[in-house]
This record gives sequence, C-alpha cells and structure tokens, in this order.
Amino acid sequence: MTAAGPILPGATLGVVGGGQLGRMFALDARRMGYRVVVLDPDPESPTGQVANDRIVAPYADAGAVRELVERCDVVTYEFENVNADAVATAEGAGHVRPGSGVLRIAQNRLLEKGALVENGFPVPEYVEVDTIADMVRGVEKIGTPAVLKTATSGYDGKGQVVLRSAVDLREAHASLRGQSEALILEAFVPFELEISVIAARGPDGDVACFPPSENQHVNGILDVSIVPARIPDEVRAAAVNMASEIADALDVIGLVAVEMFVTEDGELLVNEIAPRPHNSGHYTQDACATSQFEQLVRAICGLPLGSTSLLSPVVMVNLLGDVWSAAGGAPDWEAALGVRGAVLHLYGKSEARIGRKMAHINVTAPDVETALSRALEARERAAGRG
Ligand SMILES: Nc1ncnc2c1ncn2[C@@H]1O[C@H](COP(=O)(O)OP(=O)(O)O)[C@@H](O)[C@H]1O
Ligand SMILES: [Mg+2]
Repeated sequence: MTAAGPILPGATLGVVGGGQLGRMFALDARRMGYRVVVLDPDPESPTGQVANDRIVAPYADAGAVRELVERCDVVTYEFENVNADAVATAEGAGHVRPGSGVLRIAQNRLLEKGALVENGFPVPEYVEVDTIADMVRGVEKIGTPAVLKTATSGYDGKGQVVLRSAVDLREAHASLRGQSEALILEAFVPFELEISVIAARGPDGDVACFPPSENQHVNGILDVSIVPARIPDEVRAAAVNMASEIADALDVIGLVAVEMFVTEDGELLVNEIAPRPHNSGHYTQDACATSQFEQLVRAICGLPLGSTSLLSPVVMVNLLGDVWSAAGGAPDWEAALGVRGAVLHLYGKSEARIGRKMAHINVTAPDVETALSRALEARERAAGRG
C-alpha cells in the first residue's frame, strides 16, 4: 500500500491461522473482492478450503510468516498464539495488523493485566505465581475462591483451575506448573453476567464498537451469545466506552474483543482481550449492518469502518463436536434449519471431537427471549433431540 491510500479490493490479504475465524474472514474478504492467502500447516484447514492460496507451514515458521507478509498487502492473524517474534520480524517487510505490540500483550495474561492496569482499566485482583510459596502468599492476599491460570497459551477454559478453598492450593499449583512459564492467580469474580464488546480501529484512529453481547460459557467454552445483552443502558454505554478506550490505548489496527465481567452492582471488570475476531461476535454476521469479519477487512485496509448498528435481536449458539456424537454422526440440519430465523455457519472440519467448535447457528427474532428459545431449539434439533 502507498503510505497514504487504503488497500482496495483486488489486493491480497494474508491470514496466519486456518481455523474458523480465518475462514469467515476469508469468505467476507473474497465477497468484497480481495484475494486471500492463508498460512496453516494443514492445506485443507477451514480457511484453506476457501482461500485463494495457501502457505503450508507451521505458525512458528518465521520464514513462512515473512513470505506471507511479502506476498500480501496486509496480514492479520486469527488466533493469539502465533509466534510474536516472527510477526515482529516480518513487520519490517510489510503490514501486519494488529501489530506485534498488542499481540504480545494478549499472549500473556500477566502482560495483559499489567497493560490494562497501567492504562487505568479495572481488572480482577491478581498476583503472579511461580513457586508454591508465591501461591500461599497469593491465596492469603486474594482469598478463595480464586482462579489459577497459566499466563500463556490458555483458551476455551484450558489451562485454568478454580480454587474453592486454600486446601486445593498445592494440587492446583502442581496441575498447571510446567504448562506455562508463569502462572497468575486471580480473585474469582462472582459476576452477574459476562459480556464482550468488539471494537474496530482503523489506521487513522477511527473506532467503531459492536453492541455488547451477553455470553454464557459451559466448561469454560462459549455456549451462547445474547444480543442485546440484558444489562442496563448505562452499563452498555460504559462497556462500549471502555472497549473503545482499550483499542486506543493499545493502538490496535484491526479488531480487539474485550471480555468483561458485570458485577451485581453494575461494575465492569476486564477479564481478557483478544486482538482478532471473536466467537462472541459471530452474531454480527446475521444481525448487524456489517459483520465483524468485514469490519476487520475494512480496518486493516484503511477503509471507512462499517455501521455497527444492530438490525435485530439475535442469539448465537455454538455447536461443538458433542452435537455430532449426540446425533450419532452428521447433525440433523434439515430439522435445525426448520427453525424460524436460523442461519447455519459450518466450519468444514473433517473430524468432530467432543469440545471442538464445529459450527454456530445465529437466530434473529423480534425479541431476545424468542431468539434464545429458537436458537436452543435449533441446536437440540441438530443433535437429534428436537
Ligand atoms: N477471575 C474469574 N472469576 C470468575 N470466572 C472466571 C474468572 N476467570 C475466568 N472465569 C470464567 O472462565 C471463562 C474462561 O476464562 P478466560 O480467562 O476468559 O480464558 P479463556 O482464554 O479460556 O477464554 C470466563 O469466560 C469465565 O466464565
Ligand atoms: Mg475468554
């Protein structure tokens, strides 16, 4: 791209990581007339199936990341655990957006909370933990219940244990030590509900936030997102404001998803951030003027950000591999799609394992309670239980 102008349709966009987020990014980018190249070790990855071209290599392969950057007008990534050093090196050869700065922060819960605190954003009380002695001191300071997490490479609730009492302390420490260089002990937040806001920010500093979604997790994995979130309007406004300020403070070019806890008295605490599209933003595909994936294309290309207005109440349900095993094979799509307003997004993964994200269904309806009951019904029908 020239220093001044946007990266226009016809240009080539790169994505590191070939999962469902990359796939949906690629589908929207191609709809808009871009070419897409994906870097993933699996040539038939969900993104590989829909991209124009593939670089088949491990994510950590610095040479491959550099090749991607050289071949593309701009490169993004669809998960945080790409090699930040490789990204930092490749940045010299072209555009990587969001940049390696925010990537490094998002990769490490200690750096992440440190950066948030430094910029004045509220987070749950936490301490860094290395030895068992740190753990004892940490529990004395924070109390129980508490959550012990690996500082790096946790996702979908993996790499964390809830400590109900000080008695579990040694066991918890032993179970996670070795999985990560550092551990973090956080106060367990007795939240009313969890929400997230996805902010988009362009190279000129323009920011647009999608409406907060209310997120319900099962076994640490997102299960359902409900929009509009059932929170007071002041809390909604505060959440959007906070996500927008975080995008600015961390100088994001692209998307940043901000997960937050809402406490009983309507206070917000930031749980974690992700500088990429987010599962809780899938509802935008069928209920917003612009999807989160198109917004990512616009943001990294320096195009005007799209409207984030919500066109309808909506509920997204995730379909894990569990639905396949309940159905005894392929889910009953015919039954699921018979539910009014249901839209299927299937990721093209060949193997359905328990706990693996395989698909999601968005259901729009005149009100959120109807959308919720229809979305749950669609999933039950898919599982052969409807
Ligand atoms: N400090 C906490 N207090 C209460 N619940 C928590 C806390 N940390 C995590 N959780 C629960 O576990 C889920 C997953 O944790 P999170 O830190 O978001 O990691 P992941 O990277 O796996 O999404 C959260 O969405 C929330 O439901
Ligand atoms: Mg999370």
